[in-house]
Amino acid sequence: MREWLDDALFYEIYPQSFCDSDGDGIGDLRGIEEKLDYVKGLGCNAIWLNPCFDSPFLDAGYDIRDYCRIAPRYGTNEDMKHLIGEIHRRGMHLLLDLVPGHTSDECAWFRESAKGTRNDYTDRYIWTNKVWDSFDGVGSIMGCIRGGTQRNGACAANFFNSQPALNYGFENPDPDKTWQQRPDAPGPMATREAIRNVMRFWLDMGCDGFRVDMAGSLVKNDPDQAGTIALWQDFREFLEKEYPEAVMVSEWGQPDRSLLAGFHMDFLLHFGPSHYLDLFRTEHPYFSREGKGDLRTFFDLYLKSRAQSLSGGGLICIPSGNHDMIRMARTLGPEEMKLAFAFLLSMPGVPFIYYGDEIGMHYVEDLLSVEGGYERTGSRSPMAFDKTRNAGFSDADPDRLYIAQDASIREINVESEDGNPQSLLQTVRALIRIRAAHPAFRNRGGFRLLQCGDHSYPLVYERTEVNADGTDKAGGEQIFVVLNPSGQEAEVTAAIPGNAETIWSYGSPLRRTADRIFVPAASAAYIAQTTSSTVTA
Ligand code: GLC
Repeated sequence: MREWLDDALFYEIYPQSFCDSDGDGIGDLRGIEEKLDYVKGLGCNAIWLNPCFDSPFLDAGYDIRDYCRIAPRYGTNEDMKHLIGEIHRRGMHLLLDLVPGHTSDECAWFRESAKGTRNDYTDRYIWTNKVWDSFDGVGSIMGCIRGGTQRNGACAANFFNSQPALNYGFENPDPDKTWQQRPDAPGPMATREAIRNVMRFWLDMGCDGFRVDMAGSLVKNDPDQAGTIALWQDFREFLEKEYPEAVMVSEWGQPDRSLLAGFHMDFLLHFGPSHYLDLFRTEHPYFSREGKGDLRTFFDLYLKSRAQSLSGGGLICIPSGNHDMIRMARTLGPEEMKLAFAFLLSMPGVPFIYYGDEIGMHYVEDLLSVEGGYERTGSRSPMAFDKTRNAGFSDADPDRLYIAQDASIREINVESEDGNPQSLLQTVRALIRIRAAHPAFRNRGGFRLLQCGDHSYPLVYERTEVNADGTDKAGGEQIFVVLNPSGQEAEVTAAIPGNAETIWSYGSPLRRTADRIFVPAASAAYIAQTTSSTVTA
């Protein structure tokens, strides 16, 4: 069960921006369907689709008005059913985005909850007893809706003020604030059931699970997240009972907590303690040619999380980016990105590629905010497929595109990169092929960090083929990954057997002297102990 996760490789599709089939300037489900072969051809076998539900789009769809209806601009529920069928027909899987923390203030649940008379939705959201009461000091409540309602109370907002917080209760309720309910009070328990019903709806339609938005912040006044962990354990129990094949990946960024909470996978994120940003996005990213990066802290934390995740069977996901981060291409050039992908696609856990990162799509500078994107807007511009109008994204007049495209799409598009054997896209495809062909690279394969000094290069680790219990397989495959993104030659101090074979390389080959090994500047290699064909890109 859920074995597909062992070899899953995800592609994140932002529906607004992937492919517009009807020429209205915004992406849609049929457009996605048209491009499934592209995603499959890249080597991805699973898709995470950002919210595509009915919404006023003040936070790009993370403000849901109707959980069980596809937003008309993307199509219909029938279109979703069809898309799921087409995804499955290709042997691929689909995760939808579950937004359990808040709705739009236009959601019917909220309208009922805001009424002055008691009803089934009165406790669906977090409301104070009086409109004048404040949420000061309550963690993970960013704003509130105050006034404009018949109900005499203020409603907590999780993100933007138009996103009222659903009520999952308070782990440590303040006894003086009677509106802070326990997580097992009837109101919070009814919220759980309502979200279970949403999950049932889409799982019954055939989706394979969910990426879960802001998963770590549902129970309030929960400093160690014990209440939120217990909440998700309850959701997992529900899945085990009713949908034992369904999968959940959390936007949490702390695998030590989220995997314990029952998630099958957790993302390392641009926020939280993981030091994910040190890879590609700090002032001095490790994968920059300048060679001033440092991954020591990243790996200290990663190894701890990994040790914990192994015992519970969970997986850590390192994404190339996502719709909330500044695109990688803003800090790294295409050659640097090749080594970044050589890392992403050789690490254990489940890789996620944000649409367009595989071609090095640019962050579009200086855009006015679209649908609550603010500085994220530049990472959400439409995908570039070819050299036709709007790079094949849409037939609409370019002025009508939902977010403008960057001039760079004339060179940076799938068609151009298909025609260039040295392109980033070709490298990504080759790396994915190699990952898929080698058992040591499986998502649950072994991992040993062999070399990662303070502010030093290269980075060297070993991947191994493992048994079902995670131990190294006797006589199994062993792959050494040597990455030197810096502009200086660097010495490999880890022991790499002389009889091993290079199965992939970039830049110049390793230089061996009688007793030392060096990696030339901006070079990398995968070196295997078993025989297979060599691929260069
Ligand atoms: C998550 C989403 C982000 C959204 C926020 C509020 O972080 O990824 O896009 O704005 O939650 O729902």
